[in-house]
Amino acid sequence: MNESSSLSGFQLFTPENLSCPHQAWQMLREQAPVYPIDVPGARVPVYVVTGREEIEYIARSTDKFSNNPDASIWRWGDEFAPELAEKFEAAGHTIVRTLQATDPPHSLDYRKVVTDVIGPGSIRGWRNRIEAIIADLLADIPDGVPVNFVEAFSVPLPLKVICLILGIPYSDSEFFRFYSDEFTHLVDPTHPMERALSATETIVKGYDYLTKRLKEYRECPADNLLSAFANAEFDGRPATLDEALSMAHVTVIAGNETTRNALSSGMLTLAKNPALWSRIKADRSLVKDFYLEVLRRDAPATTTPRTVLEDVELGGVQLRKGDCVFVMWGSGSHAEKHFDDPLEFDIDRKNKSAHCTFGMGVHHCAGSALAREELDQAFNAILDRYDSVELARPADEVQYDPVFGFHALSDVPVIFRR
Ligand code: HEM
Repeated sequence: MNESSSLSGFQLFTPENLSCPHQAWQMLREQAPVYPIDVPGARVPVYVVTGREEIEYIARSTDKFSNNPDASIWRWGDEFAPELAEKFEAAGHTIVRTLQATDPPHSLDYRKVVTDVIGPGSIRGWRNRIEAIIADLLADIPDGVPVNFVEAFSVPLPLKVICLILGIPYSDSEFFRFYSDEFTHLVDPTHPMERALSATETIVKGYDYLTKRLKEYRECPADNLLSAFANAEFDGRPATLDEALSMAHVTVIAGNETTRNALSSGMLTLAKNPALWSRIKADRSLVKDFYLEVLRRDAPATTTPRTVLEDVELGGVQLRKGDCVFVMWGSGSHAEKHFDDPLEFDIDRKNKSAHCTFGMGVHHCAGSALAREELDQAFNAILDRYDSVELARPADEVQYDPVFGFHALSDVPVIFRR
């Protein structure tokens, strides 16, 4: 938001508000914590929910808010946009709902398959292999010259890690970078349907690939997440191939863009603050405080949609059954009631882990232990390897991308020195 802090004529989907939503969120938190917005093509009324209390209420009330949004809002919802569904059907794929699109009790069964492999109790088993990926990536980054940290590190690290965990060879990781980027064009309601249709071609190719691998892992089970999906059982029945495919798809997407953005925001913060770099380099116990505050201030995935299941009043607004609400986790992590001066990066903030960047409640991010592991190892390794880092261009030239669902950076130009 530029000049005013008035709701009259307020538009959320301007390039300025998409790139830097903080002022807009602050105004909405103060004046309209549940606020109607125009979403292109939406068949149902849509609201953004920025107030922390309202966010918590939605997260707690799974009987009133479903995780499965209308297809006109998030083109991956229940009825699935018919134009897109045709392409999947023609290739023999049926879109079913599993992770991130179902409600308890079913959602709990699906997420357990993920947390059994990469939850807090299992993440240690992946530690050495993640360390090796990080070492290889850093060895390829030259020092003393400008590099785009996003392409050199933030993109390939989560990509390779999710391929490792799923059991996909690294040689195919580039395709899955493209696949996961294209998926955002498919679902994001601000992108035109023609763009969604072209993105669908890539997603269908990825579905073909993942189906083949799932079948292989059914024949020969292995110690990885695709194998866990392929051989999962729910209530004593084997998972269908469509369910396994859906879980694989969600994990590819969820494991990629999010951790990428956290790594980029963290590096931008360090490159802008040499004193902070020196302080953390000298006291590694601060690394965890550092990335927790990055997650709080720069929520990598800003929102998820929910569908209203029964009429309910929230934040002074009457919501009707079928309406859509975008739960703005990024705004909840800036709530003034919880965080003094929320825009400030404060590594000494006592309650930084009270953020809701990973969501909250029964749908709390199933990959959060993996994301934290990657952030912890990555920043420790970078601090080990380099003496300093600086921005290679003026700070005001480094801007967040103007997109809705993510707080994403495409270019973080830095110079590392050793
Ligand atoms: C910094 C990185 C990450 C952030 C900020 C993040 C954020 C989120 C958010 C906001 C949700 C939605 C919570 C809700 O709707 O209540 C979510 C759900 C989920 N995330 Fe993440 N995520 C990250 C990394 C990952 C990774 C690495 C994976 C897996 C490999 C993953 C897998 C999932 C899954 C499966 C769900 C669905 C959980 C459910 O509905 O029960 N995420 N995440």
